[in-house]
Amino acid sequence: MIPRSWLFIPADSEKKLGKADASGADAVILDLEDAVAPARKPVARDMLREFLDARAGDRSPQLWVRINPLDTPMALKDLAAVIPFRPDGVMLPKAEGPEDLIQLNSYLDALETAADIELGAVQILPLVTETPGATLRLADYTDFSLPRLSGLTWGAEDLSSAVGATGNKDDAGAWHFTYQMARSQALLAAHAAGVHAIDTLYADFRDSKGLALDSRQSRAEGFSGRLAIHPAQVDVINESYLPSAEEVEMARKIIAAFEAEPDVGTVGIDGKMYDIPHLKQARHTVGLVEAYSE
Ligand code: COA
Ligand code: MG
Repeated sequence: MIPRSWLFIPADSEKKLGKADASGADAVILDLEDAVAPARKPVARDMLREFLDARAGDRSPQLWVRINPLDTPMALKDLAAVIPFRPDGVMLPKAEGPEDLIQLNSYLDALETAADIELGAVQILPLVTETPGATLRLADYTDFSLPRLSGLTWGAEDLSSAVGATGNKDDAGAWHFTYQMARSQALLAAHAAGVHAIDTLYADFRDSKGLALDSRQSRAEGFSGRLAIHPAQVDVINESYLPSAEEVEMARKIIAAFEAEPDVGTVGIDGKMYDIPHLKQARHTVGLVEAYSE
């Protein structure tokens, strides 16, 4: 199942952790990185282990853990603490490129084996635009393949602080060019690696209308879901990314029309022409709906 909504929860907040089960999110990301102060990391790890342990087996929502960056000693401590409790996946912040995912993959192989967990069970979702260097290297994900990689996602906050920017959006709320570029490249990199593109968070968590509009646009551009920071964002995201019943019906009609005439490159349905790119899009729509409900 590919989550539409990915709700961040600081791993050291008992109150917020208590809201995970009923949040309606497809996935929650239990954060050990930026949402947790350095002095609180050990406490957060302990709370997280307990939280995961109490939710063994089939989980809804999926339980993901954001570890600290690989170039800090905290990353291995995080992984060693949580992998035995079999989280559904690990979010890797500040991924510099595919080699970081390969390194994380090796750590996971070792820790899964040590904990007697099925190899490859723990998935990976990296944040791929958090430094200028990582953003400039996004083409490196072309044809990159790692079975446990679920998708790529991007973030603007760390990138803006890394370039010394005082903001990343204009007065009308549109991303500045640097972040538009990072976002588009992340979308392309994900599809070039054959995985899902997950859009970044919408910071103004009280603006449901803006979130709905932005999320529908994001879906139209090819993102499969997005990060969330507040429970109020979850339903809006789940609804915005799910293709409508009419869309799915039309997609099935297009697929059926091509299946009925396997030797043609174009078909007519209700007075409209459809060719191979429409067929691909129709398959993508149907595949996505299936991936959301698996
Ligand atoms: N997960 C679970 N519960 C959350 C939540 C979250 N991400 N964000 C808020 N809540 C809870 C609050 O604890 C509060 O509970 P209560 O009604 O029992 O008091 C309720 O939802 C309403 O919260 P609200 O008062 O509107 O927001 P807040 O001021 O408490 O919190 C944030 C605002 C931004 C601090 C909070 O949403 C948050 O911590 N978000 C996640 C931050 C994070 O993980 N960032 C890392 C990635 S960028
Ligand atoms: Mg960050």
